[in-house]
Amino acid sequence: MKFASRASRVAGSATLAVLKAAAALRAKGVDVVDFGPGEPDFPTPAFVKRAAIDAIESDFTKYTDSSGTPELREAIASRYLTEWNAPYTAGEVVVTAGGKQALHTACLALFEEGDDVLIPAPYWVSFPEMVTLSGARSVFVPTSAASGFRLTAADVARAATPATRGLIVNTPNNPTGAVMEPSEVEAVVRLAASRGWTVLFDECYDRLVFEGRHVSAASLAREFLDTVLVVGTLSKTYAMTGWRVGFALGPKPLIDLMGRIVGHATSNVCSITQQAAVAALTRHGEARAAVDGMFAEYARRREFLIPALNALEGVTCVSPGGTFYAFPDVSAHYGRTLGGHEITGSESLAEALLETVAVAVTPGIAFGEDRCVRISFATSRERLEEGISRLARVLAR
Ligand SMILES: Cc1ncc(COP(=O)(O)O)c(C=O)c1O
Repeated sequence: MKFASRASRVAGSATLAVLKAAAALRAKGVDVVDFGPGEPDFPTPAFVKRAAIDAIESDFTKYTDSSGTPELREAIASRYLTEWNAPYTAGEVVVTAGGKQALHTACLALFEEGDDVLIPAPYWVSFPEMVTLSGARSVFVPTSAASGFRLTAADVARAATPATRGLIVNTPNNPTGAVMEPSEVEAVVRLAASRGWTVLFDECYDRLVFEGRHVSAASLAREFLDTVLVVGTLSKTYAMTGWRVGFALGPKPLIDLMGRIVGHATSNVCSITQQAAVAALTRHGEARAAVDGMFAEYARRREFLIPALNALEGVTCVSPGGTFYAFPDVSAHYGRTLGGHEITGSESLAEALLETVAVAVTPGIAFGEDRCVRISFATSRERLEEGISRLARVLAR
């Protein structure tokens, strides 16, 4: 069988590979400490589940508008108006199967062969693949641990090429946890507007900010409507990863085009999920109680984890301002042999950690930074403590 060159260029998901290897070990009865997960370890809040059950029982089970139900689009627009004074109407919102489909669809709508798309590194694994699927080329914008991996407009300007058409910014950032300075969010948008680029702002972790201040690019939409596309999701905030609901807000011609693509690709997001999403976004009291509870627990884990990582031999970790990830530099161990494994980079270290002490981490190379590994703290405090003590044992010289 001959495959399209577009498809053959797409890589598999390295984050899934670790989950798979960890699952295989667990199936053999090994007690694996899994620092891999990219999703909350909490259940979806009960009132959200109830809304879905109500949707089923009232037969809300047919196709909806492919861009999302009017009620859900209105709820999303209303949230961004209240929180960021953003001017979007319901018609400037498209509902998608997670933030992922919003980003992928935006790339298809905006980029093509001959275009360059800037991607700050370290980056979420799917960004370069989405750009590849659009036919365009990824150009990476390095950020460093020394500046807390916080992207600046100057970084972006340095990396720009004559063929640059767009930029994908992720703040708070997976995998680094970096939260951009509000002044830099504005500077990046101004730079993009001056060059005629479109900036995709992936703000999927906007509610998970512990340190610093997240400012949505939506707050600049009154002045820069045509420059900015804001992408969000219910996956992380409301522990709804499996429900598949996210969204994008942007200029109407782009949102209409994305809605058309979604309509031909997948039709609408599951009708039941959309009713659950309306509940999550509009039943403010219940939502706040549920989200605050999860946030407080992530915050406690982070307070334990970051100093504990820094106390490990040969490990340095910048403090993640947001998300539930830490991204420690472990490169001091490269060149060693651990449990019979020669450590040459983040992948061989991850393999050695899994095989010697049954701790699963995601190799940083998947995110474009081979000196680091990603550690998710979407796992209980007890498991974090157990994982850290195993790491301390294996990393001590
Ligand atoms: C940076 C980032 N963007 C977007 C997503 C997409 O999540 P979803 O499609 O579940 O909304 C993820 C999920 O891991 C992510 O880490």
